[in-house]
Amino acid sequence: MALATEETPSGLAISKLHPAIGAEVRNVDFSKPLTPEIVDDIHAAWMQHLLLVFPDQAITDEQHVETTRYFGEPEIFHQTIIKSKVVKEIFRVANTDEDGKLVPPSDPVQKQLSSTKIWHTDSSYRPVPATGSLLHGIEVSRTGGMTCFTNMYDVYDALPEDWKAKVEGRKCCHDFEHLSRITGGPKPTAVERAAMPPIWQPMVRRHPVTGRKSLYISPIYNDQIEGMSDDEAVAFVRDLAEFSGQDRFVYRHQWETDDVLMWDNRCTMHIVTPHDPSERRILHRTTIVGDGPVVAG
Ligand code: OGA
Ligand code: MN
Repeated sequence: MALATEETPSGLAISKLHPAIGAEVRNVDFSKPLTPEIVDDIHAAWMQHLLLVFPDQAITDEQHVETTRYFGEPEIFHQTIIKSKVVKEIFRVANTDEDGKLVPPSDPVQKQLSSTKIWHTDSSYRPVPATGSLLHGIEVSRTGGMTCFTNMYDVYDALPEDWKAKVEGRKCCHDFEHLSRITGGPKPTAVERAAMPPIWQPMVRRHPVTGRKSLYISPIYNDQIEGMSDDEAVAFVRDLAEFSGQDRFVYRHQWETDDVLMWDNRCTMHIVTPHDPSERRILHRTTIVGDGPVVAG
């Protein structure tokens, strides 16, 4: 199907990928410095489409980090595992070690990464959660491993009235350690735990740029909701995630080598579909540190 393509003043070609979320952006090269006009047009498209796909970006990790800096400060992951030993801002979403050797699903790091098969938004356990993430496909999957993104503004707008009433004015807990409980992955060390204590955030948030309200959950970290038993809370978050995952809200991305995806963690969730674990899959992520606390909607 031919996609309508719009050209921005700086020359970017932007094509929508799904009615609810996602656009492909061409005519930009992340291996070179970006002009302020291009950065402004990317930012505007990002706010409009929530997820941008930049094909054919054969970049180094250093160029990936430099590109991230146009949009904020790159986060350095608080755990020693998963982040690159070479470029400290890179979070390795990979089933190989850094020497390129395949590691089995039973490996502790792989167990922790298996949480990406559940809907979530990155770094929501931080007191000031991440603004966005940029993910670079280095070795991509052919047996699955599609990354799917949902528009949480539209999800909020479409919530049944009784659920809307239930989330309005309510907070839920985001706890990094919850990951180890649901995946059987490594427990954070005492130092890592102290760096990321559980925090409570509004379940409805207002976006600082667009002003729109969205449902704010991150099911891999949510273990409690104000005024509910833990079982009730986990079940409600699961129901909300299932609602959020309906096709009408979701774009599914089939990766090509050197795609770079950039999403807004303040109004989306994402998930990866299963793939054959004996097939190598290597993606490198940077995460943009948040620039202000979550504002209740
Ligand atoms: C991530 C993530 C999903 C994937 O990088 O934050 O959740 O496609 N990745 O592996
Ligand atoms: Mn993620």
